[in-house]
Amino acid sequence: MEPPAPGEVRMSQAIRPAHANARGELNAGQLLKWIDATACLAAEKHAGVSCVTASVDDIQFEETARVGQVITIKAKVTRAFSTSMEISIKVTVQDTFSRTEKLVSVAFSTFVVKPAGKEKIHLKPVTLQTKKDHMEHNLASERRKVRLQHEDTFRNLMKEHSKFGDLFYEEAEGMVSTGDTSVQSIELVLPPHANHHGNTFGGQIMAWMEAVAAISASRLYEAHPFLKSVDMFKFRGPSTVGDRLVFSAIVNNTFQTCVEVGVRVEAFDCREWSEGRGRHINSAFLIYKAVDDNQEPVTFPRIKPVSKDDFRRYRGAIARKRIRLGRKYMISYKEEVQLCEEWDINNQVSLSDGNVTALKNLAAKSGWEITSTVEKIKIYTLEEHDTLSIWVEKHVERPAHTAYHLLSDFTKRPQWDHHYVSCKIIDRVSEDDQIYHITCPTVNEDKPKDLVVLVSRRRPLKDDNAFTVAVKSVILPSVPPSPQYMRSEIICAGFLIHATDSNSCIVSYFNQISDSIFPYFAGNLGGWSKSIENTAASCIQFIETTPSDGVI
Ligand code: COA
Ligand code: ADP
Repeated sequence: MEPPAPGEVRMSQAIRPAHANARGELNAGQLLKWIDATACLAAEKHAGVSCVTASVDDIQFEETARVGQVITIKAKVTRAFSTSMEISIKVTVQDTFSRTEKLVSVAFSTFVVKPAGKEKIHLKPVTLQTKKDHMEHNLASERRKVRLQHEDTFRNLMKEHSKFGDLFYEEAEGMVSTGDTSVQSIELVLPPHANHHGNTFGGQIMAWMEAVAAISASRLYEAHPFLKSVDMFKFRGPSTVGDRLVFSAIVNNTFQTCVEVGVRVEAFDCREWSEGRGRHINSAFLIYKAVDDNQEPVTFPRIKPVSKDDFRRYRGAIARKRIRLGRKYMISYKEEVQLCEEWDINNQVSLSDGNVTALKNLAAKSGWEITSTVEKIKIYTLEEHDTLSIWVEKHVERPAHTAYHLLSDFTKRPQWDHHYVSCKIIDRVSEDDQIYHITCPTVNEDKPKDLVVLVSRRRPLKDDNAFTVAVKSVILPSVPPSPQYMRSEIICAGFLIHATDSNSCIVSYFNQISDSIFPYFAGNLGGWSKSIENTAASCIQFIETTPSDGVI
């Protein structure tokens, strides 16, 4: 392992049975404590005074660590603002025997200086050394904006949802109410739970919250829940030694293989305790998955909200899921990896067929979850290791073959898709395979993007097959990246068109999201699916209203 970078703090822990659950897996709460302690030490190394956790952004756990393995946490200040600083955290797990190392999580937390006296502290800037340091430093202010606007984004999205009533809610068989998942628990903050100024460690509170949430999740379904992600811990106010912390948790909603549990924490000092008047110090939302005794992933039953509060929390969970998806894929730094292949005339058939097969495989994957549904448009999302795919299903009143001809001609795409400024054919490879140069509009004052894509279209071979229009980026030496544009990539995208009858069809648009479309959602986190809905509506209108002349 390479030596720590300047400013970096590292913690390594051998996982012992005391850190694990009955199945030998590292307790998520224990991991949250280690993460917070390492991040706090990185913050204090930079600040030179005592610091407390203000918030921890969404965390996703990609890998389960087990007894006998070694966890390593690396934390570093990415940017100092005035009295707060952002810390990046990377958690990996190493197998002691094979020495293979896997990524467990990447997270960001914010710490605020808490000097002992009344002195005012303004943090010094961070020394940036590598290209990644500079990149993270720039992204840190984007992330700060998103985190400070989080409550407003959520409120706006809830307002928008309330316009549609309970559109997302449909009675169905097998639905369950959540009353039995309600859990209350109490903890007394003792000196080992706090720093030397008596402030309760944020990590300790997160660990207690996780313990209560896990009990709540396990009451929904007989299975072993494990923490998959957390939707931002925000420490609204301090807690100190002597406080009684009351934790209340309940299941808010389920999304096929995920369940969202909410936890609210109130703190009471001795007087507040006797008066029954506490301080709300934290609310967080934790996402669990579960496996059965055969280690198979469990599909949770759908939730039947009963009370007004149940309905509010049920809708809140949907809004948070939409925000989380946007955040996850928008504001993290991705190493530059070239994903697309070079176009080669000798390899033409396999590249085109591979294009079509990749789209069909993406469509056939299991785990698609419905994210929104408005009139004729349904949006599904599929989250895999580090990719997000979207599927937009549209009902169109036009024959399938007409939709196919209109959509497979990419020169027409700027007419209905405002993400495209121009689409020009640069190589007619065959009747059904064409290479296009696409230019996109300027977004967020960045350089506009451009793409070189192979569009491969196929008619159905049998009646039950779909019309297919597959799209992927290719490298074409005759169209190299130019200084005017930022070259972007489509990993796998396209349309599958199924006839419903002789005059109507279902057009399914798929896109395995790459950074080529992130900026279009930036600044409008809650509204990212709104943007997709608008494009889909425009696509339907284009297909339904374009005259048939010239369309076969
Ligand atoms: N996430 C990240 N940073 C936040 C934040 C959040 N949710 N809320 C506030 N901040 C930052 C502000 O941006 C500001 O940073 P800056 O000085 O670099 O611009 C800094 O915190 C102070 O903000 P201010 O508006 O002056 O204070 P506040 O009244 O909003 O209080 C805390 C913010 C974090 C100090 C306060 O909520 C607190 O004490 N929380 C408890 C912290 C704690 O004790 N944690 C341990 C577990 S209990
Ligand atoms: P909201 O209720 O709007 O989601 P809160 O901050 O009050 O926001 O609560 C956060 C979460 O904590 C809730 O979504 C719910 O899951 C859980 N929770 C709050 N109050 C209770 C309670 N009295 N009993 C059980 N769980 C609760």
